[in-house]
Amino acid sequence: MGRIIAVANQKGGVGKSTTVVSLAAYFGLRGKRVLCVDMDSQGNTTTGLGVSKRDLTSSTYDVLIGRARLQDVILETESENVSLAPAVSALAGAEIDLIELENRVSRLKAALISCRDSYDFILIDCPPSLSLVTLNSLVAADTVLIPMTAEFLSMEGLSQLTETIRLVKSRYNPGLMPEGILFTMYDARLNLAEQVVEEVKHYFPGTVFKTVIPRNVRLSEAPSHGKPIFYYDRSSKGADAYELLGHEILGEPLVVEKRGKRFIFGRK
Ligand SMILES: Nc1ncnc2c1ncn2[C@@H]1O[C@H](COP(=O)(O)OP(=O)(O)O)[C@@H](O)[C@H]1O
Ligand SMILES: [Mg+2]
Repeated sequence: MGRIIAVANQKGGVGKSTTVVSLAAYFGLRGKRVLCVDMDSQGNTTTGLGVSKRDLTSSTYDVLIGRARLQDVILETESENVSLAPAVSALAGAEIDLIELENRVSRLKAALISCRDSYDFILIDCPPSLSLVTLNSLVAADTVLIPMTAEFLSMEGLSQLTETIRLVKSRYNPGLMPEGILFTMYDARLNLAEQVVEEVKHYFPGTVFKTVIPRNVRLSEAPSHGKPIFYYDRSSKGADAYELLGHEILGEPLVVEKRGKRFIFGRK
């Protein structure tokens, strides 16, 4: 049975979609069967995996409102072993539709039940809000992965998000566990960045990933080519970092072999 990971942070631009697309591609290359579920009406995961939104006849919106089954909207992507339930802009209207519907926070969970055996990992890309769509994602998930930037204001957002996770755990999904907090777009030259990381580690001991994703221009270029970083530039620092994150999630040592050299990370 696949592990369902919701990638969530109500702040936009923190690397949620980049993390979903990059991790999915990495797991797929490692022979894992992966399903990405795009729950953001901006559809950045959909675009990032090279799927054109214009050609889509159905999407996760149809699944949420009960007009289609999840298995009927799933597409294969050009990335090995990576399937996608795509999102289109209509998903923005789901908030209003859901209010009227029964089981409004557990509709994605119900839709995933029949699919989860077909995958090793199901990665849900959440919208940048603490909305009903995000609640659906957290209710459906086994774990939640929180990408965040190492900025002072990010910490306020983190406490709001952890409050929401607590609520989801107590009311709907007692088994929900943290997958981890991931620092993204990290710039080691900024003193403040390290302070923020230390502070978050202090409040959430054992929850922060050892892997940190650096700011890397290749990661920001990849979506416009419709390719995950592992297909766009395998030798970039961004690819190395997401490979390490993949190792960490798979419970493997943080070692990367590159041009005959071994890099060991996460040791301080
Ligand atoms: N590590 C990184 N280095 C540089 N740019 C990044 C990095 N991660 C993401 N980006 C870029 O930053 C923007 C926001 O990232 P995205 O993954 O879309 O965030 P979110 O899904 O949280 O809104 C995108 O343009 C993306 O290409
Ligand atoms: Mg996004």
